[in-house]
Amino acid sequence: MVLFKRKKAPLLGIDISTAAVKLLELSRSASRYRVEGYAVTPLPQDAVVDKNIANVEVIGNTIKSVIKQSGTRLKHAAVAVAGSSVITKTISMPANLTEEEIEAQIELEADQYIPYSLDEVSRDFEVQGPNEKNPDMVDILLVASRRENVEDRVAALELAGLNAEIVDVEAYAVENAFNLIVDQLPGGDKDRTVVIADTGATLTSLNVIHNNRIIYTREQNFGGKQLTEEIQRRYGLSYEEAGLAKKLGGLPDNYTAEVLEPFKQAMAQQIARSLQFFRSSSTHRNVEVIVLAGGCASIPGIETLIGENLGTPTLIANPFINMALSARVSQQGLNRDAPAMMIACGLALRSFD
Ligand SMILES: Nc1ncnc2c1ncn2[C@@H]1O[C@H](COP(=O)(O)OP(=O)(O)OP(=O)(O)O)[C@@H](O)[C@H]1O
Ligand SMILES: [Mg+2]
Repeated sequence: MVLFKRKKAPLLGIDISTAAVKLLELSRSASRYRVEGYAVTPLPQDAVVDKNIANVEVIGNTIKSVIKQSGTRLKHAAVAVAGSSVITKTISMPANLTEEEIEAQIELEADQYIPYSLDEVSRDFEVQGPNEKNPDMVDILLVASRRENVEDRVAALELAGLNAEIVDVEAYAVENAFNLIVDQLPGGDKDRTVVIADTGATLTSLNVIHNNRIIYTREQNFGGKQLTEEIQRRYGLSYEEAGLAKKLGGLPDNYTAEVLEPFKQAMAQQIARSLQFFRSSSTHRNVEVIVLAGGCASIPGIETLIGENLGTPTLIANPFINMALSARVSQQGLNRDAPAMMIACGLALRSFD
């Protein structure tokens, strides 16, 4: 199995995340993208734990269900493994080598760069471009992931009749989707630094983007699952009921002040802390804007709170802002899920590489 494999056919983006499986099919005419199909199906608790698939069959069945719901006919897909499950390394090689020669060289020397055997990890590389200091050399990104992480995802797709053409890395998918939200950003300064803070069910990942490239990533164990669990405890609800109540409302009066507000404060604090870590490690400290992504970005008022607490303009990611929609796709549903679809977007965009 190879990461970054070149695609042959149009690809579905399939994001297998902790809370749900998310499917996205895009098409492109001229330079405009169109959403041909999309669906999000929640996963039962513990189907994905620490970004690992705990039960391939459950995931396979959920993929079947998103396919059905979306009405897509595509058979090829791009999926991603979590950034925390990959090792990366950038090396340099002479610019005049062919892909094959690079591959052979890496094969020979891989142990030096990534000290695991091929039984344990799946490896791949991508030529990034000329080396900054020496134009006769190119920089090559090596990526390795635990074999299981890749194979479980491929197997789950296969159960649903899909062929995994590309196994990407989540952070690269976010980077890839960044162009979709550029029009949302103020200014238009090319040299700007933008933070994408994705708070999902279990993880908050902070990706800092400078000149369209991720220059910093940090993950923390913090997410909407904590809020779900607090709702379960307080109001005696099941995981599913609590998850629905969060989105649809109907919880007792004290919910907002006693449960939701403290969670929002905690979320702001988590993002503030990651931002501090970034600022202390980088020379690009001047963050122009914070973009909130992930399901928790849909919590009412969260962008105002974070903007005020962190003293930085803050907005909510909408990767579909410039896209056309097929008549099959519900605008309302898509808008609601938009902030949580960044990874699915980055994956679906791989069709057009
Ligand atoms: N409107 C909303 N209000 C509050 N919480 C919401 C809302 N919409 C989604 N969420 C929460 O967002 C979380 C899911 O977000 P997302 O889909 O980004 O997570 P994920 O990608 O599956 O998780 P992870 O990134 O940790 O693997 C859930 O906890 C869900 O309850
Ligand atoms: Mg996520």
